[in-house]
Amino acid sequence: MTLMTREYYTLWMTIRRGRHFLQIPGPTNVPDRVLRALAQPTIDHRGQEFARIAREAIDGVKLVFQTEGDAVIYPSSGTGAWEAALVNTLSPGDKVLMVETGHFATLWRNMATRLGLSVDFVPGDWRHGVDAGAVAQRLADDHGGAIKAVAIVHNETSTGVASRVADVRRAMDERRHGALLIVDAISSLGSIDYRHDEWGVDVTVSCSQKGLMLPPGLGLHAISAKARRAAKASRMPRAYWDWDAMLADKAAGFFPYTPSTNLIYGLKEAVRMLAEETLPKVFARHRRFGEATRRAVRAWGLEILCGNPDEYSDSLTAIVMPDGHDADTFRRKVLERFDLSLGTGLGRLAGKVFRIGHLGDLNELMLLGALGGVEMAMLDNGIEIVPGSGVAAAQTVWRGRKALAEAEAISLAA
Ligand SMILES: Cc1ncc(COP(=O)(O)O)c(C=O)c1O
Repeated sequence: MTLMTREYYTLWMTIRRGRHFLQIPGPTNVPDRVLRALAQPTIDHRGQEFARIAREAIDGVKLVFQTEGDAVIYPSSGTGAWEAALVNTLSPGDKVLMVETGHFATLWRNMATRLGLSVDFVPGDWRHGVDAGAVAQRLADDHGGAIKAVAIVHNETSTGVASRVADVRRAMDERRHGALLIVDAISSLGSIDYRHDEWGVDVTVSCSQKGLMLPPGLGLHAISAKARRAAKASRMPRAYWDWDAMLADKAAGFFPYTPSTNLIYGLKEAVRMLAEETLPKVFARHRRFGEATRRAVRAWGLEILCGNPDEYSDSLTAIVMPDGHDADTFRRKVLERFDLSLGTGLGRLAGKVFRIGHLGDLNELMLLGALGGVEMAMLDNGIEIVPGSGVAAAQTVWRGRKALAEAEAISLAA
């Protein structure tokens, strides 16, 4: 190769045209409408115009949480909102029941322990969701009411397993246990059906960069009246996260400190988009993405990490890498060759799984493109699959009369 052609070749390898394929389970693609909203001039966060925007954003967020209770917006990541939920409701040494569904449940447990809470961590295999029966048993054994909160992750982003929150609520109600129910809906809000009020959740924790289609930077809570009462008695030290300060001026649309003004413009636009589409349709769209991805994985002959079909996540799928292949090497090659980002294996799953995010601002052809990239990369990297099999299987969710009827059924079941 001459110097000239080598330089040309290097350029060809590095210059990218078209859109990058961001198929990680968050941060997700930010729609153009939201990008334009974010790009508006920053204004006085104590003025009436901003207050109006903030009120609309908060009302929209409540719609997505499916709550008529309080909601707060922090300038934080999801981890900040995790901490805020614990320090607003609990006291040092309080017992909290948590369940090891995966990496994020483990991180949240570690945080609770560092904050001085006493965590009973129900062991799990990182392939199943919260076992409501195990929660029920722990609550039944808790005769003195020592457990002050049950804190679980709805959609475990590290494994692609969605727990059935309503079953956990039922287990708590059947035991007439007074613990608070605190739920991480970080990778489910705005993509998988989530009902804060109906499921009797006391604090739902979420953030901006997943189903809400925004960049990272906003932490969110939906808060029940019972959680507000618990906050009055809670003795955990807190200042920045304090709900009282956040909710004091909520009707006026003001914040106790400088909010992320431009992200709140984006939030207002994002919740408008979700409301226009309507939540049932948003959930049905994600259900079809999940189903299409799972059909592709099965057609490739690979294994879905989630061990229970009733707990499949519709916002991401974690795929077990075949023996002899490292998932991160594979991900790196997919990125270099096709400009496609896939999610890494987290914690004990590092190198063993890769994750396809299928949530947020996504349509059928974007997902088929991503599945096509994964498929080509597998063939190029010596993973034995039938060429075209995954993409063809995924298409059956949307293609033809029979598929249309099936897709409708998937949407109705949602
Ligand atoms: C389920 C879940 N909980 C918590 C977090 C932590 O959120 P953040 O990284 O925004 O702090 C994440 C991040 O991906 C998550 O997926």
